[in-house]
Amino acid sequence: LVELIIAIIIAYLLGSISFSYVIARKVKKIDIRKHGSGNAGATNILRVLGKGPAILVLSLDVLKGVAAVWIAKWLELTEVLPTFTTLGEIEGVASAMAGAAAILGHNWPIYYGFKGGKGVATTIGVVASLVFFPSIYVGIVAILAIVLTRYVSLGSLIFAVGTPILIGFTKSYYGHPDPYFYLTAIFGLLTIWKHRTNVERLLKGTENKIGKKIS
Ligand code: G3P
Repeated sequence: LVELIIAIIIAYLLGSISFSYVIARKVKKIDIRKHGSGNAGATNILRVLGKGPAILVLSLDVLKGVAAVWIAKWLELTEVLPTFTTLGEIEGVASAMAGAAAILGHNWPIYYGFKGGKGVATTIGVVASLVFFPSIYVGIVAILAIVLTRYVSLGSLIFAVGTPILIGFTKSYYGHPDPYFYLTAIFGLLTIWKHRTNVERLLKGTENKIGKKIS
């Protein structure tokens, strides 16, 4: 259990590194949370700093989710973490919990007064590491929606709602462990809640479209 707690803490500390905050500070000496939508995420970096920094932030925020899950997976495989894998039903608990901790770190980072982002990029990294194909399929639909509507938040919401649905339906086909489904369901709801102001703006037709630079 100690090993599991350590893996979760490492994942949380990793998730807490807010790349949008760090890069906005470095490039423009600003607190990204006081500009644009006020969100510490790649979409807001795109708005305020432009394409290059946004791609960098998106990649790094995705990668920290990937890293958190793979560290836990590796600890599971090497049986440093409790060998849940041999217990059938609760297989995958450690990697799912590490992924959850990384997303929580991104949203409520310990280093920056617990004011972080909406967790989408990190969730993509976590979910893609746990259940690759379903997340890719939903990801393609989400990207299409963003390209067609220019609303990033709509794509994020499609990803949040779509992954647990597809993972639920394809569970017997891919055979992924139950905790992966619960993780996407719970974090899907969290993503929707984090986007509540975006949802309001989407319904009113006042949501920010990408391509519009503001500071
Ligand atoms: O991932 C965040 C995105 O869905 C919305 O970001 O800055 O438009 O609130 P923002």
